[in-house]
Amino acid sequence: PYPHYATLRKIDPVHEHPGGFWILSRHEDATAILRSPKMSMQDSNLAGASEEEPPEMALPPSMAEAVSIMSLSMLDRDPPDHTRLKSLVSKVFTPKSIAALEPAVTALVDERLDRIAELGGGNLMDELAFPVPFAVISQMLGTPSSDSDRMRELTGRIVRSPELVSEEEFLGGLVALQELVQMTRDLIAWKRNHPAEDLLTALINAEEGGDKLSDDELVAQVLLLYAAGHETTVGLIGSGVAALLQNPDQLELLRSRPDLTANAVEEFLRFDPPIQQTRRITTAPYTVRDKEIPAGTLVMISIAGANRDEERFGADAESLRIDRPDARHHVALGAGMHHCLGAALARLEGQVAIGRLVSRFPSLALGGEVTWSDRVELRNAKTVPITV
Ligand code: HEM
Repeated sequence: PYPHYATLRKIDPVHEHPGGFWILSRHEDATAILRSPKMSMQDSNLAGASEEEPPEMALPPSMAEAVSIMSLSMLDRDPPDHTRLKSLVSKVFTPKSIAALEPAVTALVDERLDRIAELGGGNLMDELAFPVPFAVISQMLGTPSSDSDRMRELTGRIVRSPELVSEEEFLGGLVALQELVQMTRDLIAWKRNHPAEDLLTALINAEEGGDKLSDDELVAQVLLLYAAGHETTVGLIGSGVAALLQNPDQLELLRSRPDLTANAVEEFLRFDPPIQQTRRITTAPYTVRDKEIPAGTLVMISIAGANRDEERFGADAESLRIDRPDARHHVALGAGMHHCLGAALARLEGQVAIGRLVSRFPSLALGGEVTWSDRVELRNAKTVPITV
């Protein structure tokens, strides 16, 4: 996709798409819109959206209900709801609770690496990238492992930006969402009767000034944690390792300088961001460069385009450089008030998984062709064949 983003940045960085939305692809414009208080995440602010008849009304009732519950996730809310939801979840999803996970993440990763050692290699996606993030979030929330496989399968089907996929894929996502909402409800009901030292129990009990999450709000935040924390981190591990193996000088550099691991993860996030784009809706006319985007308009923000902007990252922006001093200025984890709540967890998982893989296998190499899934919004390798 990157040559297309480069073209957009160059010839039309504030692009009005014939499909009725706009695309921003420069770093400066992406950070500005993500930080702008005038933007909304709520579809009801789209021009032409009618208050009395939200679009989900055309769906069967149980599906419409699932969609309306998901619209309660903090990512889909504006202040003051967003502020309140993020604050309640942040109370339990703290930097301290994430740092405390390091031994558990290391143990999960090492278990997978033992298997890779036994097999002599394999598809990194199946052996490491997919299993680890879902196991971590399931363990954090305290989900029984009998539910966890099905939830993993279903979360992979949810689609965030309907304008970018086929109708069939979108409907498949809705069916999956409906089942997930029900599973999450059941899980919460079960957890109320079986409280434990886990994130879900803490979320059920989270309170601020007498305020708690309602049942539907709880379902939406739990599902968001599953979905937001799943394929994204999978993408980071898969694409990060692929990039490293396709750039052997960078692999060598990391071997000789393991202290660069944290910066290397920032560079992987910059170079191949797992979420390639996000969206905002203007609530007032919004001027970017010399163009005015009208109120009520959907704007797609090309995270992938912004992350390779030569104006921000210099002439070598299209190259992987794990010692790039300003790699952290990518927008792979968003910016402004919706900045990724799981950023510390994503970084921890990326650093442990990639760091330990590289240090454990001195002859780690690509054993075949890297292939990619065809999702536009999420960048995920399908196969990263490795030999060890
Ligand atoms: C928000 C990326 C991992 C939970 C976001 C946003 C991005 C992002 C770009 C902002 C979207 C926007 O503003 O439109 C990523 C990437 C990850 C990752 C690339 C992995 C490499 C995680 C993990 C969790 C998580 C592990 C939690 C388990 C969230 C939540 C939000 C969010 C709850 C919504 C925050 C809000 O609306 O204020 N993430 N994320 N993410 N992420 Fe992540």
